[in-house]
Amino acid sequence: MSETLEPPVDLRTPYEAMGGEAGLRRLVDAFYDTMDSDPAAARVRAMHPADLTPIRARLADWLSGWTGGPPVFAARHPGRGCIMSAHAPYAIGAEEVDQWLACMRQALDAVEPPPYWRDILDQAFVRMCDALRSD
Ligand code: HEM
Repeated sequence: MSETLEPPVDLRTPYEAMGGEAGLRRLVDAFYDTMDSDPAAARVRAMHPADLTPIRARLADWLSGWTGGPPVFAARHPGRGCIMSAHAPYAIGAEEVDQWLACMRQALDAVEPPPYWRDILDQAFVRMCDALRSD
């Protein structure tokens, strides 16, 4: 009998594990609710428009494709370019990244994905933030 040394692997996509579109919308709402209310996120909040409604939809739709779900962003937001270009106008350094990640971690705390997925998503958000830095 063979033994496996592999840890248990969850074969779902992150999209499925997060609860699909409804789950991603819960995550995004918790993220922008935190950004909108936590004084510690004031700097990153000030970079965004007063009305966060449109960006809630854009982030949730972008995350859909990024997490292995339907790639709906381009069809739902025609004229929006790639994510790197969308961030190019902004000065994003260590402080902005720390505030953005702190909001996302509070959102992950609120929606409580399985720990397996929480770690994977956290690491992926850290890598995305690094890629989006302008300094
Ligand atoms: C590193 C820290 C980050 C800062 C300071 C930041 C800031 C911003 C700002 C100011 C906007 C434009 C808002 C608007 O005018 O409506 C934006 C758009 C967006 N951000 Fe970020 N962001 C960060 C990281 C991320 C990460 C890690 C992701 C994805 C994992 C992300 C996804 C998006 C998306 C999808 C949009 C909308 C793009 C579009 O409209 O074409 N951002 N971000």
